[in-house]
Amino acid sequence: MSVPTSVSPPLLVSVAVMTVMFSGLVSMAESAIGVNWGTISFHKLKPSTVVDLLKDNKIQKVKLFEADPLVLRALMGSGIQVMVGVPNEMLAALSSSPAAADLWVRQNVSAYVGKGGADIRSYMLKRFIAVGNEPFLTSYNGQFQSYVIPAMANLQQSLVRANLAGYIKLVVPCNADAYEGNVPSQGAFRPELTQIMTQLVSFLNSNGSPFVVNIYPFLSLYGNSEFPQDYAFFEGTTHPVIDGANTYTNAFDGNYDTLIAALSKMGYGQMPIVIGEVGWPTDGAVGANLTAAEVFNQGLIKHVLSNKGTPLRPAVPPMDVYLFSLLDEGAKSTLPGNFERHWGIFSFDGQAKYALDLGLGNKKLKNAKNVQYLPARWCIANPTRDLSEVANHMKLACNVADCTTLNYGGSCNAIGAKGNVSYAFNSYYQLQMQNEKSCNFDGLGMVTFLDPSVGDCRFLVGVTDTSASFRPYQRWVVGFILMLWQVWAFRV
Ligand SMILES: *[C@@H]1O[C@H](CO)[C@@H](O)[C@H](O)[C@H]1NC(C)=O
Ligand SMILES: *[C@@H]1O[C@H](CO)[C@@H](O)[C@H](O)[C@H]1NC(C)=O
Ligand SMILES: *[C@@H]1O[C@H](CO)[C@@H](O)[C@H](O)[C@H]1NC(C)=O
Repeated sequence: MSVPTSVSPPLLVSVAVMTVMFSGLVSMAESAIGVNWGTISFHKLKPSTVVDLLKDNKIQKVKLFEADPLVLRALMGSGIQVMVGVPNEMLAALSSSPAAADLWVRQNVSAYVGKGGADIRSYMLKRFIAVGNEPFLTSYNGQFQSYVIPAMANLQQSLVRANLAGYIKLVVPCNADAYEGNVPSQGAFRPELTQIMTQLVSFLNSNGSPFVVNIYPFLSLYGNSEFPQDYAFFEGTTHPVIDGANTYTNAFDGNYDTLIAALSKMGYGQMPIVIGEVGWPTDGAVGANLTAAEVFNQGLIKHVLSNKGTPLRPAVPPMDVYLFSLLDEGAKSTLPGNFERHWGIFSFDGQAKYALDLGLGNKKLKNAKNVQYLPARWCIANPTRDLSEVANHMKLACNVADCTTLNYGGSCNAIGAKGNVSYAFNSYYQLQMQNEKSCNFDGLGMVTFLDPSVGDCRFLVGVTDTSASFRPYQRWVVGFILMLWQVWAFRV
């Protein structure tokens, strides 16, 4: 992805390992733990702070949902391998236009590979391009489905033209809802996807690409009250799934082998698999808490790194596993549930939520360094005021800022009516970068210098978002140009 000034040996090694892995056979190599880095947050850390966080935690692989230039630039020269995503919304354009695909590759890949120089590929860090994100998701009702293969074909040709095809692989992260089966051995892709999956898997196979799948035992548990809780974890279960001679004691393995069976039916039972997303949220739902997230993620990592594999693929763990997620993303849609903003192993400001051994050398997570916080002050409900008229203010605050922890199952659900108001006011105030007026609420709010956090319920202080601080400046420039234009327009 970049042209660092010196050759870094681990990189060359990883290119060699990659070649081995793409030789078409299921490799015996150990899997590596990576992370998803999403950026839908009100309080964004500087990309360079996040890259340092990755490095301090020895995380070598990162998956991005789009080609954010600030993020990619910060990753250049870091030695971190990148899977970069093409958003679903771009698939239609890329499927219909080879020129659009060329441009995408030029702007979002080649630009970070560097120009000229025979040995640039030694520095190639961008191993994968994810074409769409869960484009076959049932809830999308097929709206992206038909674009996936043509977009892939165009992007592949663009990679060939850019001389990158040997180094960068196209993949399509699929949600586990692409396949089904009462027991793992009966796994099959959804009937309406048969044709497209046949094309996809054959494309992946001919390019030596892995199948990328997102597996979420949490969602199985959240969406189904009959789901045995201990089956979601890796500590053994009182409800194993018996499948002929095979016994499954955790949902992850059961789901994984359902995919293996589906692939086998198509003749690709040996295809390498990457887990594109897996994780456990810590807030916003009853089963989403710190203990459960720690137990799940640690159990998963231990299980994968034990190289035990699964009954249908013994001794061959997934090629890579990308945890979902690196950081909390407080501006994500809550349509899936309030937990959606709380998947991070780190909070939005890069602080470890629990101890986790990623199996990468550190025994536990290290916090982000040099985080630039706003001043230590909070906005709360003014205790001397009658709050009977507060409902609309609260609604307004929570419509824009994040109040998900206040709901049932959330870490701030029990802080009382006044606490609720204060929490909402503060979320809004921090979102407005502590703008004094944003704590007014018709006199019902007041600024305090005493941290109002209660127990596990944390009242946040925003971080100074360098990319956001551009916005007022840009607005000012646009305003100035408009003003000039008006001056000019009125003269003629
Ligand atoms: C590169 O990726 C970004 C982020 O997804 C996107 O906004 C941009 O349009 C892409 N460039 C091209 C030429 O498609
Ligand atoms: C945390 O979640 C787990 C299941 O996900 C649940 O069994 C446990 O009771 C929860 N703990 C708390 C303190 O809510
Ligand atoms: C605080 O707000 C949450 C979410 O709306 C609600 O469930 C809870 O009951 C409220 N607490 C009080 C004491 O009103």
